[in-house]
Amino acid sequence: MPGAIYAEGLVKTFGDVRALDGVDLDVPEGTVLGLLGPNGAGKTTTVRVLTTLLRPDSGKAVVAGIDVLRHPDEVRRSIGLSGQFAAVDEYLTGRENLRMVGQLYQMKAKAAKVRAEELLERFNLGDAADRTAKTYSGGMRRRLDLAAALVVSPPVMFMDEPTTGLDPRNRLQLWGIIQELVAAGTTLLLTTQYLEEADHLAHDICVVDHGKVIARGTSDQLKARTGGERVEVVVHERDRITTAREVLAGFGKGETTVEKHTRKLTVPVSGGAKLLAEVIRELDGRGIEIDDIGLRRPTLDDVFISLTGHAAERRAEERAEAAAGPEVKGRKAARKEAAK
Ligand SMILES: Nc1ncnc2c1ncn2[C@@H]1O[C@H](COP(=O)(O)OP(=O)(O)O)[C@@H](O)[C@H]1O
Ligand SMILES: [Mg+2]
Repeated sequence: MPGAIYAEGLVKTFGDVRALDGVDLDVPEGTVLGLLGPNGAGKTTTVRVLTTLLRPDSGKAVVAGIDVLRHPDEVRRSIGLSGQFAAVDEYLTGRENLRMVGQLYQMKAKAAKVRAEELLERFNLGDAADRTAKTYSGGMRRRLDLAAALVVSPPVMFMDEPTTGLDPRNRLQLWGIIQELVAAGTTLLLTTQYLEEADHLAHDICVVDHGKVIARGTSDQLKARTGGERVEVVVHERDRITTAREVLAGFGKGETTVEKHTRKLTVPVSGGAKLLAEVIRELDGRGIEIDDIGLRRPTLDDVFISLTGHAAERRAEERAEAAAGPEVKGRKAARKEAAK
């Protein structure tokens, strides 16, 4: 049985650009899929197709058991969307924004009011509830945006880069809220450029690049695929590097690399913590003093670089550009759609 979010062979072109080049997804109910990819990979386009804001050229999508292309209105009633083009109105206050969303979803005025108060409280927006969203900080806007997406507690949620541009404190706070949602049974598709975020929140990860899913699996599976546990040692004295290197060669599965100026030696190994203990004993036995030693496993960063040939996280200014760009148009369109 297909999951709560299912896509098969999604293709979308914009002129010469193949934004989606055959995307397949299957997200089991109650789980989080992290769609991870660099700028321009096709993440937002995927979300827009799945949330009925954009028709694909070809392919199939089913969300909450409903065919996205055939019954977009029904899909819209079953999903929440937050992120780069969600429905926060700058000229309304926080409270008005949340009530408006309730009314768009045909909630009774009283119920919409109660729900708005609950969400304002939950997202720490009580004090700012009567200020227009225009005056909100980045973090407050994100929280309002997310609150707006939760007015009707949808079974399936989409979040497009929910924490991009947030400071670490606000990011952690949002992670907490997202985890609560998922614990309560929501199925979530989350796009992100932060590997750490995918690592922390997602059950499964799809790495996308150039409109294609180039790898999928749990964070651990992706890391294992990249291979490569290694032992890193920093020796105390530079003139013991040669001996330390001999020791490591005895344990290594490959070539030992040496960074002379930091006195750091790295060797690929297999065998985990047990092996590390043996390495320490052997170094000690040869009277080599060490400043630091550790077993390093590959990070998702390593995975990403090995898959795509480039790092995932963009520079801050690129992010700001992307956030200010076509998204404004998208937001208006979303509101218009929501008002239909
Ligand atoms: N409305 C559009 N018109 C033209 N090109 C677009 C449009 N939307 C997206 N693209 C292009 O499609 C590709 C994928 O974009 P997008 O899905 O926004 O990537 P991401 O969200 O991963 O950064 C990019 O090359 C982007 O420039
Ligand atoms: Mg995007």
